[in-house]
Amino acid sequence: MENFTYHNPTRIHFGRGQIARIAGEFPQGARVLLIAGGGSIKQNGVYAQVCEALRACTVVEFFGVEANPDYDTLMKAVALARAERVEWILAVGGGSVLDGAKFVAAAVPFKGEPWDILSKGARIESALPLGTVLTLPATGSESNGAAVISRRALKEKLAFLSGHIFPRFSVLDPETTFSLSPRQVANGVGDAFCHVIEQYLTYPVHAEVQDRFAEALLKILVEIGPKTLARPNDYDLRANLVWTATWALNTAIGQGVPQDWTSHAVGHELTALYGIDHARTLAIVLPSLMHVQRAQKREKLLQYAERVWGLREGEPEARIDAAIERTRAFYESIGIKTRLSDYPEVTPGTAAAVAARLRARGASGMGERGDITPEVVEKILTLAA
Ligand code: NZQ
Ligand code: ZN
Repeated sequence: MENFTYHNPTRIHFGRGQIARIAGEFPQGARVLLIAGGGSIKQNGVYAQVCEALRACTVVEFFGVEANPDYDTLMKAVALARAERVEWILAVGGGSVLDGAKFVAAAVPFKGEPWDILSKGARIESALPLGTVLTLPATGSESNGAAVISRRALKEKLAFLSGHIFPRFSVLDPETTFSLSPRQVANGVGDAFCHVIEQYLTYPVHAEVQDRFAEALLKILVEIGPKTLARPNDYDLRANLVWTATWALNTAIGQGVPQDWTSHAVGHELTALYGIDHARTLAIVLPSLMHVQRAQKREKLLQYAERVWGLREGEPEARIDAAIERTRAFYESIGIKTRLSDYPEVTPGTAAAVAARLRARGASGMGERGDITPEVVEKILTLAA
């Protein structure tokens, strides 16, 4: 196992009615900027509960953060936060709203050009304190220090990481997710699955806790993903989906182990180019990546085949093939297509175009060993055609 220093500062309020806990999180009279998306929270009763909990605060609202939150939209929220001298941010929504709020929290006190935070990895010295009410289980943003921001005007989608943007607290009430469409539920399952895989499917370092936790999370997603879609009003299924998605990317299973975030890096390019839902881009990349990197990931692929899919019989290569096929079939079973050709918005030449974008960014060596070059990415996307 590799060395690590682990600290997750997010306090979680989990379960029915827990939005009321927000009242105890803010000092009396705090100036809070409430950041939200396109309005789903007004239809499902979440907004009313949040307003009730914020009665002792001075609240400024910013609605309109879109899926794949846009830099230009968020800069309007930054201007509002500065003008209103807000002291806290409360994000209410899915991963996009949470990520957008994290960017606003970092950009408000930032002295230079905020785009540099994303484009140049400019160091953040501080951020406004942030709380969240999560309404879509998927990204883990409610309990990590990551945010992914799009800038449509430049066709870019870039991530940044900072210890300063971990939420101070997050409310996870599974009932807030009952209003999700089947498409968004499936996206959440598929995204969380890939998060676990990217911290697990590399090479073994004898990290038994991280491996067994990761395998448990994968097995839970395989079991409850389809059930949640079939029984959309089942509280226990939702509660387990919400908690699994949090664990998939609250950084616990990634401590002390090699990681490979290539599926996300390539997926973000596909979203930037074509606007495909985040989780769907991962489903396109992941099975092909497993194929192309099968030699490098051989030991872990065999472990994954056995422990997650129960594949113990036959030649090793056949077991690996079967595990990759199970992975693809799992995504397809929850209604997520896994081939580029399944997405009519994708234009010819995509494999080369994505490779060129990565080359231009200097992403020369991704993967757990730094051996996934833009040429390898081109191969992966060609196989995903
Ligand atoms: O905007 P509203 O009206 O709220 O509607 C949203 C949006 O249209 C809707 N929605 C959310 N909760 C709902 C609901 N509709 C009905 N009932 C509810 N309870 O769902 C739509 C999609 O929401 P979005 O926030 O975009 O989805 P998701 O949570 O999947 O977030 C995706 C974003 O997170 C980034 C992705 O790249 C993408 O930009 N990621 C962030 C990560 C992180 N911070 O660690 C890691 C992930 O890998 C991912 O990259
Ligand atoms: Zn993701």
